[in-house]
Amino acid sequence: MPATVVLGTQWGDEGKGKFTDLLASEVDFVVRYQGGHNAGHTIVIGDDRFALQLVPTGILNAHVVPVIGNGVVIDPKVLLDEVEVLSSRGIDTSRLVISGSAHLIMPYHQELDRLTERYLGKNKLGTTKRGIGPAYADKASRIGIRVQDLLDEKIFSQKLEVVLKEKNQILAKVYNRLPLDEDKILADYLDVYAPKLSPMISDTVGILHRAYKQGKEILLEGAQATFLDLDHGTYPFVTSSNPTAGGACTGSGLGPRQIDRVIGVAKAYLTRVGAGPFPTELEGETADLLVERGFEFGTNTGRKRRTGWFDLVLLRQAVALNSVSEIALTKLDILDVFPEVLVATQYEVDGERTSDLPYHQSTFHKARPIYKRFEGWMEDLTKVTKKEELPYNARLYLSFLEEQLEVPISMVGTGPERDQFVSLR
Ligand code: GDP
Ligand code: IMO
Ligand code: MG
Repeated sequence: MPATVVLGTQWGDEGKGKFTDLLASEVDFVVRYQGGHNAGHTIVIGDDRFALQLVPTGILNAHVVPVIGNGVVIDPKVLLDEVEVLSSRGIDTSRLVISGSAHLIMPYHQELDRLTERYLGKNKLGTTKRGIGPAYADKASRIGIRVQDLLDEKIFSQKLEVVLKEKNQILAKVYNRLPLDEDKILADYLDVYAPKLSPMISDTVGILHRAYKQGKEILLEGAQATFLDLDHGTYPFVTSSNPTAGGACTGSGLGPRQIDRVIGVAKAYLTRVGAGPFPTELEGETADLLVERGFEFGTNTGRKRRTGWFDLVLLRQAVALNSVSEIALTKLDILDVFPEVLVATQYEVDGERTSDLPYHQSTFHKARPIYKRFEGWMEDLTKVTKKEELPYNARLYLSFLEEQLEVPISMVGTGPERDQFVSLR
């Protein structure tokens, strides 16, 4: 069966976890294809709340094989802790498979992420300080250490020796820091993490291709989002991987013709964590209300998220970049108390109106949103489960978005719980 991709269309935290979990009940494999523990995917099942960072959301469905693909960067300690916590909560984690080609986040990556941010001062990106950028940089520089290296002590030690020499020079000479202890890293990675991880390490590309041939259903779970994409996002205020649909292929090993459905998850308003341009950003009471009602604090870092109105200029671009086939619109319920709901349809730049995303960052930074105003529905949506029960004004809002995006909105989120959604199909 052709695979399905679930990905973020904005700046992250759209509710990918919730919709992946919903769809996971119908699939055999759920594959994380990029990012690392910078992600925080929340799933609420009754009184239980799970905030997954590295483990694919499919872990919560007993019949699903969760796969960490080759495009992910893995901090082994974080992964093992996450697996342990899930196990202690009664989740069967024995099915988890990890790609041997995924890269390892090493202690120097985290240290350098923190130091670079400090060095950038007011120009900092506001990263999650998890070592993501430095780990992907080493991958691109071909000095990364991979998960499969954990299975060969000699290779691992040799690689570490070479890399650490350079990293320690940078730490000492550029940042005036103490060098990292090679023996301590070797002991942690080879004696503690390797034995625990080795049973999970496998050829995930082979596994997925065999599964595909057998007609199994595969779901590819994106982390971060389109405008945090290293190539297509608001560079340099991006992450260091490709959350866009192309990344689903490189990060899993499936080919583009093996994917036939791309679900773009979009929040009914916008949020962003960290620095970077944000044309529809709000301040004051409206922003505070969105933060309060949407509980807009980072799942992972606890940082307050910046908030703004839905932006169609961004979304049209996201639909195009990812060949999105349908939209899952989340958190519509958060707008229940707003007498007026705004949507940016165009930008104004230097007196000119445009419906297209300016390719030049300097232009994008100057973009002022042109809004269309909708009368709010002022009704509680959290118990609505059928399309017909949606208030008239909410339906007007949804049809306008569909018309503008030229793809159907297939699902609408009306609360964090598994059953709080409306299927529009
Ligand atoms: P992700 O990173 O894209 O998986 O999203 P996060 O988990 O970081 O943030 C989304 C937050 O919104 C989580 O707390 C979810 O439980 C919650 N959520 C998801 N969908 C809905 C929805 O439709 N309504 C409400 N009220 N909350 C939702
Ligand atoms: P999920 O999967 C929201 C942001 C950071 C920072 C930028 C770069 O939960 O949607 P990084 O640590 O990746 O180098 O930081 O990217 N960022 C996210 N924002 N949701 C995420 O993941 C994010 N992962 C990274 O805040 O601005
Ligand atoms: Mg998140």
